[in-house]
Amino acid sequence: MTDDVLIERPQAHPGVQVIRFNRPAKKNAITRAMYTKMANALTAAATDDTVRVTAFLGTEGCFSAGNDMADFMAFAMGGTMGQEVIDFLRALAAAAKPVISGVDGLAIGIGTTIHLHCDLTIASSRSVFKTPFVDLALVPEAASSLIVPRLAGHQRAFALLAAGEPLTAEEARDAGLIWKIADAAAIEQDVLALAASLAKKPPEALRIARNLIRGDRSDVLARIDEEAGHFAAQLKSAEARAAFEAFMRR
Ligand code: COA
Repeated sequence: MTDDVLIERPQAHPGVQVIRFNRPAKKNAITRAMYTKMANALTAAATDDTVRVTAFLGTEGCFSAGNDMADFMAFAMGGTMGQEVIDFLRALAAAAKPVISGVDGLAIGIGTTIHLHCDLTIASSRSVFKTPFVDLALVPEAASSLIVPRLAGHQRAFALLAAGEPLTAEEARDAGLIWKIADAAAIEQDVLALAASLAKKPPEALRIARNLIRGDRSDVLARIDEEAGHFAAQLKSAEARAAFEAFMRR
């Protein structure tokens, strides 16, 4: 089992499960083993009465640089796209209990799209949200092609998901992609306090309220699969391979 992502249960905050990226040397890039560990934690939380809220956190200055590029390269070289990322995205989109997140610094690719499935995200003002899918000859994932236009309108969705334009924390907040901005030094503490406060609420009322607010997720789950089909095909393309090779050569 990998330690590149940690599943923590802070004693000071009963009911809170933390999924913490712990691979700072690689900018918290996410490997197949990390997706599996995160999916298992989310799935187990659904039936674990001692977990009421899950919080994603990264490390200082970096939430995540997205999918591991070496894994992308391995797929491009002939490996099949793993089911791990899809299992994770489906577990996240269908999570039965509140999921929140805290971002300080880099949030790239799935490091940005994770938050589309979170109920509350707090980011530091130095955070940058960017999805360079098309620059890597890939396509949007995590149902971002459905959710971002709904939240932010076509032009901002196109700028982020197709043009690969970075968003500042302020722009991400104004686009409805995150909840609010806090000091970098306070992100961890603020997210844990928020998680603890949600964990103390009457769980059944919170569950019903959350389901009403989120609405039916079947279109989101279907879009995750639709995008994944295009993503897998593009991973095998010559243009994607060239982009991954360029990253490896830097
Ligand atoms: N997958 C695997 N390794 C990654 C990675 C990723 N997505 N992002 C960063 N790393 C690794 C680098 O290879 C480097 O490893 P090394 O020290 O062994 O060479 C280390 O993390 C530090 O990255 P570096 O590029 O030196 O840091 P930086 O501050 O100059 O740039 C980024 C940081 C995130 C802007 C840059 O690494 C980057 O563009 N990464 C790719 C992001 C991406 O496209 N993700 C996929 C989205 S779909």
